[in-house]
Amino acid sequence: MYSRTLPRIVSTSSTPQASSRAISRLSSISTHLLLPHSSHQRNIPSRPPHRNVATMPPISSTMKAIVAEKVGGPEVLEVHTNQPVPTPQEGQLLVKNNIIGINYIDTYFRTGLYPSAKPEILGREAVGTVVALGPGANPYNFQVGDRVAWLATGSYAEYTAVPQAKTVKVPQGISDEDAMASFLSGLTVLSFAKETYPVQKGDWVLLHAAAGGAGFLLTQILKDIGAKVIGTAGGKEKVELVKSLGADYVIDYRSEEGKDWVKKVKEITHGRGVDVVYDSVGKDTWEGSLEAVKRKGTIVWFGNASGPVPPLPLPKLSPKCVKIARPTLFGYIETREEFEYYVNELFNLLLTGKLKVKIHNVYPLDQVAQAHIDLEGRKTTGKLLLKA
Ligand SMILES: NC(=O)c1ccc[n+]([C@@H]2O[C@H](COP(=O)([O-])OP(=O)(O)OC[C@H]3O[C@@H](n4cnc5c(N)ncnc54)[C@H](OP(=O)(O)O)[C@@H]3O)[C@@H](O)[C@H]2O)c1
Repeated sequence: MYSRTLPRIVSTSSTPQASSRAISRLSSISTHLLLPHSSHQRNIPSRPPHRNVATMPPISSTMKAIVAEKVGGPEVLEVHTNQPVPTPQEGQLLVKNNIIGINYIDTYFRTGLYPSAKPEILGREAVGTVVALGPGANPYNFQVGDRVAWLATGSYAEYTAVPQAKTVKVPQGISDEDAMASFLSGLTVLSFAKETYPVQKGDWVLLHAAAGGAGFLLTQILKDIGAKVIGTAGGKEKVELVKSLGADYVIDYRSEEGKDWVKKVKEITHGRGVDVVYDSVGKDTWEGSLEAVKRKGTIVWFGNASGPVPPLPLPKLSPKCVKIARPTLFGYIETREEFEYYVNELFNLLLTGKLKVKIHNVYPLDQVAQAHIDLEGRKTTGKLLLKA
């Protein structure tokens, strides 16, 4: 269980760019977790190219993968059993995936809200075993057999060729399931609470969809910082879940009583409004979020669960001098240093038991369409996973 008495997580240092001291401090806590930390380790001689590297077990030439042949509903997700296994190129690793994370963004690429070429293997993260290395340099000292987590594209498959730079070894003590229940989602909310709006102790924070994959983790992080959290969630069960994480107030914004959640937020904050809103719901909540934020407050719009926020006339921000942000995780973890910084924070939280995860369900790979139906149907809490 996440402890509210534990030290503040997200305020241990300033931004990762400016905090090499903090990074070394974190590294000293958990350097053993991620072997390829320091610059001297990056100069390790290149490993031999893919064809010379022993692999385990033998890699077949074809694999099962979920292919979105075209944009559309969950029905466009086709199970292909004869998909070619990719060959890792320079700078890549071939990973045999075990557990795959499902993220709401996968639905945006499926529907075409976010454009991408089709046919496409969806999915942006997985944990599995390195089975081969691409030719050329091996700056982070990966080896065949390493258990790794990665962020890239094409994870709804048995194998993925992934960039070394966005792959890390997973320490013993973190299961594949726990790693995937928190990897993309956890890195996202850690970076948003630290950099998009540096949340301070005592801040009033409004967090929509607080029982979801990202919301479940962010609620805990906000409470650890000492923020006062008003969560929204759809339905009694979700409300109870968010309360159990220590949220100060939770509004069922789908209930009759909670429909006017803006009024409720104003009451709770004595008419002042919140310091920051984390809004990943988008279309259905953006106007209310603008009303619920305080004068000189900040709105972090970071998702489109109900549809995108429409183009916003800038004068709408003027009366209260509101600041808005529209961040993406990948903007905060572009460099290896930034990526390792947040991964270390996350793994440290998991290993010390300070951050708990919730897994809604682990679906077999070929039931991914059902998983998308459940996610978009607002039937889930915590994270949805696939077993490759
Ligand atoms: N910008 C980034 O880099 C980044 C990274 C990760 C995630 N995200 C965003 O964060 C959000 C959460 O992602 P997630 O994967 O953890 O998903 P999730 O929160 O587990 O699922 C989405 C939740 O949104 C709520 N929701 C509100 N209106 C909805 C609607 N009309 N249809 C469907 N759901 C609706 C539902 O919760 P209730 O029933 O409680 O309303 C639903 O459970 C998504 O918007 C995602 O795009 C952004």
